[in-house]
Amino acid sequence: MIEKYLLPEPDGLPTRPSQDYVLYKLKALSTYLKIAITAVGKKWPEIFYIDLQAGPGKNDVGNSVVLGSPLIALTTEKHPTQFRFNELDPELKNALDQRISASPLKDRVKSYQADVNEVIIQICDEIRERDRLARVNRQPSVLNIAFLDPEGLELHWVTVEQLASMNRMDLIINFSTQGIIRNIGAGNFEVVNRFFGTDQWREIDKPGSSPVARRRVLIDFYRQRLEKFGYHIKIDPELGGDEIAISNSKNSQIYSLIFASKHPIADKFWKEATKNVKQPRLLGF
Ligand SMILES: C[S@@+](CC[C@H](N)C(=O)[O-])C[C@H]1O[C@@H](n2cnc3c(N)ncnc32)[C@H](O)[C@@H]1O
Repeated sequence: MIEKYLLPEPDGLPTRPSQDYVLYKLKALSTYLKIAITAVGKKWPEIFYIDLQAGPGKNDVGNSVVLGSPLIALTTEKHPTQFRFNELDPELKNALDQRISASPLKDRVKSYQADVNEVIIQICDEIRERDRLARVNRQPSVLNIAFLDPEGLELHWVTVEQLASMNRMDLIINFSTQGIIRNIGAGNFEVVNRFFGTDQWREIDKPGSSPVARRRVLIDFYRQRLEKFGYHIKIDPELGGDEIAISNSKNSQIYSLIFASKHPIADKFWKEATKNVKQPRLLGF
């Protein structure tokens, strides 16, 4: 089945059962990579794609199999030059490795099986060292694109901070609105504190306000915390940022995909990438 490992088809290896709303984030990711790398690829000798919760590489959605984020990055036509994947679950990591073995780019991949909040140290050390060498050789630093796709709140703010402190790190983050509301409701404030890197979210969160207003405030708070690392965070007072908000069939907000870059041109690419992949508005939303 190796000939099917990189195709959106069953190949005998484990897949990740998923709801159809994953399609929006995957489409946003693939379109962003295409637009951004086509536009700036020549300017950057090294483009790292970093996927810290990569899954097995394929998702089962209804009756079809779709490529997951790591295989999207690996098979996109204008591709990054280096790939760093991580997946905690050994079975899923093994499936991902087998699929990667079918890629002509396999020598550019390093894959890890670790907790997202631990693996980050060695990945950032590697990028820092590449950037140091680039400075010595008077070359551009590494352009990094990180796709952070947690299931809930397991991605700690200190991890995002480590990524954000790299010279050039564009961030696409699956912001689990559902996970936040659920953990706040259950009184798991320590979990929420680790996610935001502070307990100050308590000063701005209004549990009685509408889900849309509540989400807005929490996302803006999270994004604004990136500003001190040089991120270009523009927040329209009426509309907020350019994130995509995804709900399930019961109109409950599941996640928002948020984007942050230190360069305004990347915001333009993201806007372009997401303009056609926003979920149609559900009734009453
Ligand atoms: C939402 S899924 C990722 C899906 C994948 N990005 C895709 O597009 O197909 C999240 C993944 O993170 C893994 N995971 C959960 N907790 C983790 C942790 N603490 N560290 C690393 N991976 C973790 C899960 O096993 C799961 O495969």
